[in-house]
Amino acid sequence: MQFVSKTGQIDKLSTPCLILPVFSKGKQAELTDLFDELHGKQITTVLKQGDATGKPGNTLLLQMPAGSKTKRVLLVGFGEQGKTTADDFNKAIAASINTLKSLPIKAVCSALLAVEVHEKDTDWKVRQLVLKSREMLYQYTETLTTSAPDSHTLETYQLLVMAESTTKTINKAAATASSIANGIDSAKKLADLPGNICTPSYLADTAKALGKQHSALKVTVLDEAKMEKLGMGSLLSVSRGSRQPAKLITMEHNGGPKSQKPIVIVGKGLTFDAGGISIKPSSGMDEMKYDMCGGASVFGVMQMCAELNLPINVVGVVPSSENLPDGDANKPGDIVTSMAGLTIEILNTDAEGRLILCDALTYAAKFKPDVVIDVATLTGACVVALGKHATGLLGNNDELANELLGAGIKAGDKAWQLPLWDEYKPQLKSNFADLANIGGPAGGTITAACFLSRFTEDYKWAHLDIAGTAWKSGTDKGATGRPVHMLSQFILDRC
Ligand code: BES
Ligand code: MN
Ligand code: ZN
Repeated sequence: MQFVSKTGQIDKLSTPCLILPVFSKGKQAELTDLFDELHGKQITTVLKQGDATGKPGNTLLLQMPAGSKTKRVLLVGFGEQGKTTADDFNKAIAASINTLKSLPIKAVCSALLAVEVHEKDTDWKVRQLVLKSREMLYQYTETLTTSAPDSHTLETYQLLVMAESTTKTINKAAATASSIANGIDSAKKLADLPGNICTPSYLADTAKALGKQHSALKVTVLDEAKMEKLGMGSLLSVSRGSRQPAKLITMEHNGGPKSQKPIVIVGKGLTFDAGGISIKPSSGMDEMKYDMCGGASVFGVMQMCAELNLPINVVGVVPSSENLPDGDANKPGDIVTSMAGLTIEILNTDAEGRLILCDALTYAAKFKPDVVIDVATLTGACVVALGKHATGLLGNNDELANELLGAGIKAGDKAWQLPLWDEYKPQLKSNFADLANIGGPAGGTITAACFLSRFTEDYKWAHLDIAGTAWKSGTDKGATGRPVHMLSQFILDRC
């Protein structure tokens, strides 16, 4: 769906559906009042009767008399006038789109930017309106046949301009938001695909296709032979137990000056994690197809950068492999040598994410990065510590960490920082190698980050553990596209 600004008077609009805000208490919006006056006080009536309540998320569809230029009116509640919160706003947008998507209409005209939201500007409202709408319209269809849902008919969403001066702001915000939404959708689509379709080779092909679509995006894929040459013994040890060859995917967006050091984003692309020889319990194991969500978010972010032609250098790196039990798989006690030269004792083959990431993080140094951010569904411990709402954040540079925390708050895609203190580091001690790949049951998210920190000493680095935030379980099972929005905001703030 296209989001575009629209100027015009409310009494002269010709539209299949006009969307108007209503409040549960206090004065109604000027536009709502004006329309009400022109149409026999119908809105006042339905509010009085209680058919529309004005509460956040309440909607009521009104049919206009035959011959009206405005065919329908959708009333959307935003709570008490002047007290609409960011959550109320999102709830109202979600409810309105849910009503609209079952109607046989192609276009709508919305006056919802008239709603004042506490401490938020027009830019924020447009961003949120677009992203929430697109989230409600997202539909996984790839492997559905008879049970595929009816697709909606919406094509154009006009945003009524409240003050002439905001036209440019609205169009720019809508374009930015649409590209972020495209990135989120792509990440979700990849993540929701099953492991037998979305393999490391599938991800590599997807990257190459993205590179063809955007000529400014340079895509390279290293196969196992090339990785062998680079000495990526840790990454390759994980894929040895799989019949699918590992891939190391790089996507470079060079929108900034040549001299500008890039932001490098590294995403874990484990397309299925059975745990290897340290096999996982079978219940819920299907969800380990989501172990490539970090990689998927890198795809989403790179697509956003390319679509918006952002004037900045960003490199995406996705190490991709499966983790399966096999006669040739890693065994507990095996020792491998990483690209950095450090030997690693693999005490648990299920702690494989750090094994593929450490080599990708060493590889990342070749881009002479300004900062490196890795994104990974790395530890179940992160879900225990922070639940499903906050991404875990750790790193070796507080300035970078704060920048990411701030971007997360702005985007409503939040992270929470955990300590990466030296006190935790002895937990990774091994008698037989430079370090062990697990640090025991205490502080699992932190010791995983401690492991990675041994490979990131030469640059500013942050680690995002998205084990709790990348997908939803239960009846709502599906990818969330997090943290594409946080990372997009981080990059936009640097442009
Ligand atoms: N991909 C998992 C982490 C994970 C588990 C993410 C559950 C989301 C939900 C990772 O590869 C893993 O298995 N980690 C182990 C590490 C442990 C063996 C130290 C874990 O968290 O159990
Ligand atoms: Mn694992
Ligand atoms: Zn994993």
